[in-house]
Amino acid sequence: MTYEYIKAECVDSIGIITLNRPKILNALNLQLMNELVSELERMDQDPAIRVIVLTGNDKAFAAGADINEMAEASAMEILKRDQFAVWDRISLISKPIIGAVSGFVLGGGCELMMNCDMIIASETTVIGQPEIKLGVMPGAGGTQRLTRAVGLNKAMEMLLTGEPISAKEALRYRLVNLVVPVEAYYQEALKLAKQISEQAPLAVQVIKKSVHKADNLPLADALDYERNGFYLLMASEDRKEGMQAFLEKRKPRFSGK
Ligand code: CAA
Repeated sequence: MTYEYIKAECVDSIGIITLNRPKILNALNLQLMNELVSELERMDQDPAIRVIVLTGNDKAFAAGADINEMAEASAMEILKRDQFAVWDRISLISKPIIGAVSGFVLGGGCELMMNCDMIIASETTVIGQPEIKLGVMPGAGGTQRLTRAVGLNKAMEMLLTGEPISAKEALRYRLVNLVVPVEAYYQEALKLAKQISEQAPLAVQVIKKSVHKADNLPLADALDYERNGFYLLMASEDRKEGMQAFLEKRKPRFSGK
């Protein structure tokens, strides 16, 4: 598949997607989002890939939705375009997505980052939802996912002032997993991806789904979901292999069955 605004590759069971509109700080236009989601879905179906890393460049993960595409559009055009529908498909990706972010992570860029399951950020990262400064508001989950991530007060401050926070502050608010020097964030994300790619693939996917239930279900229902996932994995080949390997004091060889 050839793309114009993203690059995609596979290195040792890790699918790597790089946003690639550097001249305008990876602004997320409709075509980029369509390419990105198509590739995420393709990688999700590819048995050779176990984990996905989503990145941009040192200067920008993404500076938001492409303002050029919105500036002249009427409300009806935006409504008919339904430009955020494609975003909903990201939450259906079953393999873990690790965000490797640096530089500007603004607006839709922040919303995209929050669709990742784990985030490694460079020290130069600035994260924010500046839509208020354009006279609008986030439309791809910013008011919801940010609030769930950092809590009501901090989300309110960020959304109503539009001012970004530093990587260090984002770490303090648990919006990212790890902050490292800019030279290291990408390698650090690959290291995490490699570690996860060596786990039993079915267990990885069931755990991802189960963790996301914590956001959406009452505790009793989520615990029920978790228990059924556990029972299901007991039927997998990888469960036999994992437990046998433990007893034989060797490294397991997981097949994903
Ligand atoms: N859309 C389109 N173009 C963008 C862009 C965006 N979101 N962000 C940056 N660019 C372009 C600039 O227009 C500029 O293009 P030219 O060289 O052709 O002039 C180029 O990228 C470089 O940007 P700057 O010269 O502005 O670079 P800077 O370092 O001075 O400033 C910045 C960087 C602070 C990120 C600034 O570009 C900026 O404020 N960008 C807009 C951020 C924003 O408001 N994002 C939210 C968009 S709305 C949204 O995302 C809605 C949603 O919920 C999905």
